[in-house]
Amino acid sequence: MSVINLPTTPIGVFDSGVGGLSVLREIRRAMPSEDLLYVADSGHAPYGDRPSDYIHDRSKAVAEYLVGQGVKAIVIACNTATVVAVEELRSWCPVPVVAMEPAIKPAVGITRSGVVGVLATSQTLASPSVARLCNEYGSAARILLQACPGLVEQVERAELDNAATRALLNEYLSPLMARGADTLVLGCSHYAFLHDAIRAVVGGEVTIIDPSGAVARELVRRVGAAGGAADVPEAGAEPARAGEDRFVSSGDLAQASLVISRLWGRKVEVAAL
Ligand code: DGL
Repeated sequence: MSVINLPTTPIGVFDSGVGGLSVLREIRRAMPSEDLLYVADSGHAPYGDRPSDYIHDRSKAVAEYLVGQGVKAIVIACNTATVVAVEELRSWCPVPVVAMEPAIKPAVGITRSGVVGVLATSQTLASPSVARLCNEYGSAARILLQACPGLVEQVERAELDNAATRALLNEYLSPLMARGADTLVLGCSHYAFLHDAIRAVVGGEVTIIDPSGAVARELVRRVGAAGGAADVPEAGAEPARAGEDRFVSSGDLAQASLVISRLWGRKVEVAAL
């Protein structure tokens, strides 16, 4: 007899805004039967230029909301919230917390020119986590840290490829290219939505690393280890059930619904946080 382990509680995923939808997309692909609850804290975005106390408070408030909704795991789909708040959240969260930080280690393993560019928010780049990664892997490659103020705001408006976005990308990417970077780390979940626009600036030879798939795989492992996974179908097989997607935002709801629907690829309703 085959036993299907049906999910009863959702997986909670949050970001300062809509950027974490890039991670949610990979989670949905990897776990088609799970119910997913996504929080876009867009009313408080961007986190990346704010003081750490503010990011701590917001991350805690959102995580408490998710725990109150009965989630069985939390994914911090935000590098900035991870580097500032993950330890504190893990100290009290009653469920597994999966997080993300810039993929500097794999980038150093991949580069052929020996120069890696890391695109992230100012807070992420100034964090002890990034300093640690640079110390650990900086002898194997030159690691160029590039803060990208303004890009999160463009993605929050779903302006993924207009003149202003292209101008910002040119400004941030040109110095990295001029210094020989052949591998770029997307160290902010919002930037995954700029992948094609970034590709248009840097050309086809540069490797662009988006860690979303790795985060989803880690989540599958953690939820499975905690014994709470829904049925994960074999490759190509139909899922036992189609998981539900729910969206919540602290921003303007009409705008959130417009932008999330556009980035998620279908019309969705968004509730207030
Ligand atoms: N998406 C976020 C990250 O991965 C943060 C963006 C922000 O609010 O500044 O870092």
